Amino acid sequence: MSDPKVRLRDVTKRFSSAEEVTALEDVSLDIGESEFVAVVGPSGCGKSTLLRLVAGLHHPTSGTVEIRQSKPGRPKTAMVFQEHALFPWLSVRDNVAFGPRNRDVPKKEAAEIAQTQLARMGLARFGDFYPHQLSGGMKQRVGIARALAQDAEILLMDEPSGRSTRRRAHFCRSRYWNCGRSPGLR
Ligand SMILES: Nc1ncnc2c1ncn2[C@@H]1O[C@H](COP(=O)(O)OP(=O)(O)OP(=O)(O)O)[C@@H](O)[C@H]1O
Ligand SMILES: [Mg+2]
Repeated sequence: MSDPKVRLRDVTKRFSSAEEVTALEDVSLDIGESEFVAVVGPSGCGKSTLLRLVAGLHHPTSGTVEIRQSKPGRPKTAMVFQEHALFPWLSVRDNVAFGPRNRDVPKKEAAEIAQTQLARMGLARFGDFYPHQLSGGMKQRVGIARALAQDAEILLMDEPSGRSTRRRAHFCRSRYWNCGRSPGLR
C-alpha cells in the first residue's frame, strides 16, 4: 500500500503495574483510505490497546503510529469505547453533542447533529434521558452516536455491539456501515 491512512510500524506496548504486561509486540499494520478492518482475538490479546494507540490515548513503548490527515481541522479519530464511557451528568443529547460543541459548532446545530445520530441509532426519543436511565445496549448505541457526531476521519469501535442482541447488532452495523460509505458521517 503506497500511502496508507493508518500506519503502525513495529509497535510494542508494555504496561508496568503490579507486574509488567506486554499487551502488543512488534505489530505492523497498514490500513488504507475507506478500508473497514476488524481485529479479532481472545480476551486480553491487546485489541483495545491497539485501538487506543491509534486514537492517541496510549503512546507506544517502541515503534510508531502514524495517521495521514486529509482535511486539516477535522478530528483524526473518534472512538466508541468498550465500556461506553458516557458522561453521567450530561443528558444523552448533550453526550452526543459534546464533540461538535468542543469544535465550537453552535449549540443549535450541535443539538441537530446529535438528534440525527441518535435517530440513526434508534434512540430518537431518548435525548432527554440520562445514561443511568438506559440499558447497557442503549448506552453502547449512544456511544456510537457520539462517535459518529464527531465526523472524524477514522472511526474506532471497540466491541460496539457487544451488549446488543444479534438483531440490534445487525441494525447498528448497517447504520455505521452506511455512514462509512457516505462522503461525510453526517
Ligand atoms: N492501562 C493498563 N494498565 C495495565 N495493563 C493494561 C492496561 N490496559 C491493558 N492492560 C493489559 O494489556 C493486555 C491487553 O489488554 P486489552 O484491554 O488490550 O485486551 P483486549 O484484547 O481488548 O481484551 P477484551 O477482549 O477482554 O476486551 C491485558 O493483559 C491487560 O491486562
Ligand atoms: Mg477490549
